[in-house]
Amino acid sequence: MIGNSKVTKILYGGDYNPEQWPEETREQDMKYLKEAGIDVVTLNVFNWAMIQPSEEIYDFLELDETVKCVTDNGMSICMATSTGAHPAWMARRYPEILRTEFNGMKRKFGGRHNSCPNSCAFRHFSAELSSRLAEHYRGQKNIVAWHVSNEYGGACYCENCENAFRVWLRKKYGSLEAVNKAWNTHFWGHTFYEWEEIVAPNLLSEHFEERRSMFPGITLDYKRFMSDSMLENFRAEYNAIRKWIPDAQITTNLMGLYPGLDYQKWGKYMDFVAWDNYPEAAEGPADIAFKHDLMRGVKRDLPFCLMEQTPSVSNWLPSATLKRPGEMRLISYQAVAHGADTVMFFQMRQSMASCEKFHGAVIQHVGSDQSRVFRECMQLGAELRELGDATLGSMAKPKTAILYDWNNRWAIEGSSGLSLDIEYPEEVLQYYRPLFAANIDVDVIEMQEDLGRYQLVIAPELYMVKPGVKESLEKFVQDGGTLVLSLYCGIANENDQVVCGGYPGELRGLAGIWTEEFDALKEKENRFVWNGTEYPGRYVFAISHCEQAEGLAEYQSDFYAGTPVLTRNAYGKGQVYYIGTRSNAAFYHDFMKVICEEAGIESCARELTKEAPERMEITRRSSEKGDFWFCLNHKEEKKQLLLKVSVTDIVARKTYAAGETISFAPYDVKILRKQEAVK
Ligand code: GLA
Ligand code: ZN
Repeated sequence: MIGNSKVTKILYGGDYNPEQWPEETREQDMKYLKEAGIDVVTLNVFNWAMIQPSEEIYDFLELDETVKCVTDNGMSICMATSTGAHPAWMARRYPEILRTEFNGMKRKFGGRHNSCPNSCAFRHFSAELSSRLAEHYRGQKNIVAWHVSNEYGGACYCENCENAFRVWLRKKYGSLEAVNKAWNTHFWGHTFYEWEEIVAPNLLSEHFEERRSMFPGITLDYKRFMSDSMLENFRAEYNAIRKWIPDAQITTNLMGLYPGLDYQKWGKYMDFVAWDNYPEAAEGPADIAFKHDLMRGVKRDLPFCLMEQTPSVSNWLPSATLKRPGEMRLISYQAVAHGADTVMFFQMRQSMASCEKFHGAVIQHVGSDQSRVFRECMQLGAELRELGDATLGSMAKPKTAILYDWNNRWAIEGSSGLSLDIEYPEEVLQYYRPLFAANIDVDVIEMQEDLGRYQLVIAPELYMVKPGVKESLEKFVQDGGTLVLSLYCGIANENDQVVCGGYPGELRGLAGIWTEEFDALKEKENRFVWNGTEYPGRYVFAISHCEQAEGLAEYQSDFYAGTPVLTRNAYGKGQVYYIGTRSNAAFYHDFMKVICEEAGIESCARELTKEAPERMEITRRSSEKGDFWFCLNHKEEKKQLLLKVSVTDIVARKTYAAGETISFAPYDVKILRKQEAVK
């Protein structure tokens, strides 16, 4: 359950910043927001300077008025803590709170997400602000959740951070010898004899450029340290709130694939996951669905909160494309289909000035309820009211997992070689998209999660093998699971040190192959035939020998023609596939189809319909309240769905019998509850 126990429907609302407008606007806002069915507002996201106008003064007067106003109008509150941007006076009085950039440039006051996470002043003032807020609002019954800071991110390379890094390393490794060993500092004679010799890895020290490091081991630890530093900031505020409100439900808004923070570690300290969905034009529904599954996987047994999305445009895109009529509704329900228990926007009223003035909002510059966007928001609000608590708390029960891991991504991206053409998220998506197209539900999880509940596990580009992962994968396959491995798997340990003795290192026995070399070719394809069809191999070519595995397909050209590119190894009761190159969408489609059939993985719509129409996404969430299919027509054409069972459309409150056909308008969505068979 998102928020506290008083929540009885999918919360609908989002960021509301009335401080930006004249006071009179508030009453008009209330009228419109109620009309749109908005029942939750996120307040106080960027008010630090208003609440604490100077070091000694805390002033809640204006926020009190807003709280009273939304409360009088029957709305719930998601209370933010405002620490995503510090006040100007604080930067002037305590310049240490200003970050130092990757290129060594010390920042001045400006922007947001601009505080050094290791500044004592920032740590003190941010926790103090949260404590004062919680003390002040602890009796406010309609606060359903707390929202710490905003979209944590970026990094700092100042001297405070360098010092804190040394402390973090001491704690992690115990001794400098252990640090030197983990980082393999004999390379280029980088041995450290004093802790103070260690500096932050950036453009001034170990980096060629933003991505690649001369000492990937150092960079990897710095990324972990930076993620931990911000997590400490979050936890300090979390604890400050909990001190006053022991049962507060506390979160912060994550950003999907954002590379900077180890969200899977953060999830352990958040009461529920919240995230902001701002798809870019090139992202199709599968890629958005992947991010929902990834975010849900951060706390895999809980629904998540869609904290932000735009009702119409994201002004910061190079081209601010409108969501087409119906698209906002579709993508809101897509979040719910993947496990969201809220639908929230940035923001309620469109800014008059500053860099977000052209960002979409429920109430636009025109200030009326007659705009297309407002009408669409209102329609969705009415539907969500109709849905009530039906789907709240329900979950998918996938039998398939994809491993996606932030530490793995950092290690891959910090390395020089073997090819910049293989992006880790894209490699993972190659395997996700065909599952999405087949309406197979998937958990996207960190590599150390327990795998006991799955029949199929896909581990694309599992370059880093963290402690215990070899054993966990072996047990999974031993017990009858199917595992799919792809290029560059098993190369390094958690310190990005190559596991010598033949690739894929620790996974060699499991995969039953020895990869001797990797060839990377930018332009030239190789080809292979599998199951009678020819497919291309691109960018990277693992040159392997079968040990226990059998070869299923071979390269057709180059000096490694005839060596296996696709292998299968029977292991215990299960089996392991390995794909040594990047192929095309047709291959992943065909391959995943066969693998799923073999592993007994079925579409979650199998019981609902014989054949789901093309580009209709179907997911299933279940709870003691029933089984719900979410059917989403991602096409600008009408679609028909032929039913195998009787269902109720719980939005339109209409029942259909088995054998009937349901029509879907372009971008249409229906939520169908399975009718229990009459006993
Ligand atoms: C982010 C932030 C919001 C706002 C939106 C605009 O998600 O959290 O404050 O800036 O982007 O898209
Ligand atoms: Zn710093």
